[in-house]
Amino acid sequence: MADESTLHPSHKRSCMCRPLNIPRTKPTNEVYSIMKDFNVTDDDLKKYMKLLMADLHKGLAKATHAKSIVKCYPTYIQDLPSGQEVGRYLALDLGGTNFRVIMVDLQKNHFEMTSRTFVIPNEKMLGSGKDLFDHVAACLHLFIMEQKLNDECLPLGFTYSFPLIQKAIDRGIIERWTKGFKCDDIIGEDVVKVLQEALVRKGINKNVIVKAVINDTAGTLIACAWKSPYCKVGLIVGTGTNACYVEKQQNAEMFDGANHGSGLVLINCEWGAFGDDGCLNYLRKPEDIDIDKASINPGKQLHEKMISGMYMGELVRLLILKCVKGGAIFGGKSSSELNQKDKFLTKYVSDIESEKLGTYDKSKAILESLGLKNITETDFQNVRYICECVSRRAAFMCSAGLATLIKKTEEKRVTVGIDGSVYRYHPHFHNLMMEKMKQLVTPGVVFDLMLSEDGSGRGAALTAASAS
Ligand code: BGC
Repeated sequence: MADESTLHPSHKRSCMCRPLNIPRTKPTNEVYSIMKDFNVTDDDLKKYMKLLMADLHKGLAKATHAKSIVKCYPTYIQDLPSGQEVGRYLALDLGGTNFRVIMVDLQKNHFEMTSRTFVIPNEKMLGSGKDLFDHVAACLHLFIMEQKLNDECLPLGFTYSFPLIQKAIDRGIIERWTKGFKCDDIIGEDVVKVLQEALVRKGINKNVIVKAVINDTAGTLIACAWKSPYCKVGLIVGTGTNACYVEKQQNAEMFDGANHGSGLVLINCEWGAFGDDGCLNYLRKPEDIDIDKASINPGKQLHEKMISGMYMGELVRLLILKCVKGGAIFGGKSSSELNQKDKFLTKYVSDIESEKLGTYDKSKAILESLGLKNITETDFQNVRYICECVSRRAAFMCSAGLATLIKKTEEKRVTVGIDGSVYRYHPHFHNLMMEKMKQLVTPGVVFDLMLSEDGSGRGAALTAASAS
């Protein structure tokens, strides 16, 4: 069992043997019937698991990898941390609208961290690769100055949370961008080289040596493995979604590194792309199609668009609007704010669902801030029900995905290290996953879900430590 202090807060309160208390709101009949086909059944999830398992095999095998959708990139990480790593390391965490610079001081079985978060302006997310990485280097420079590290030379682990064709622990080719980023001029380039060139331009290449580049899922797995030897799977449900797991090198046909002894390698599944060949169309609804069409990467990351934080609030907004049009909510009247794309934040889903059933203070504040007036108790219930349908579907799909990966590891006991804003802040996501996974994981296999304390950054530092 994982160390209690690292378990998800809602996990600590629950007993794994009792059914968990997950509140469910009662909607009106009209809203119920509009939302009806948004519910995924166990048969749907079993079909999903078969499809994902087949895609994992395709991604791993040389003969099918090029055409595979779930790419299963080998990460070149072969060893999980022992807890004995020591020293001072830097980490960069690039993967969402914010990015972080972190300094980690690893002592035996103990660590200290200092970090600073910087915003990435939208124009840098959509501009040239040079501009984006100059911004990264400028922020790193600021951090080095603030922490008075200018006379030092520290190893750095780079958490880069986008599809990367890894060629070595410190080399990886940018395959494409996701989650609102589109710096397409550097696709095909080695991301570590791009970063190093920016460090040279900023004059800090003597202070920093990039030792490793890793995905956030890998960072999360590694950070949790530092505490639990059973951690073999890593999951992110945040702005985007993805998972990684520990695979035998003999099954990872695309892995061309030398075996350092463990015979294992961490696989970055890039499961956000699952369904891009149409195999998940049986689960996709008109609103999923609309979200995809309005995105900057249509046709791509279809699985991610059904699950992750970048899209969850927008899905709820489109479904509320559908109910408004049918006259089933707000007396058939919308507001100009509610009619605008992305105005219903994913954070609202967590806020609304965290209220005690029958109380609507937060819901009222949220809906009024969206310009809605004369909201009735039934409206509050209906909105909450729509949120529940969307977050449940996401949690159940993640559960089916994890049950598939746990099966693929062939282990009898698996801890899953998890991070990301949806998992961390949604009040019932963890419990929903526990419930569903109990039904889907192979009987006899023991699993638990561990919230990563600052996963990916510390994982990057630990990987830099192993690589040093
Ligand atoms: C990226 C993954 C990443 C995930 C979670 C996806 O959009 O493709 O590399 O792990 O988001 O951040």
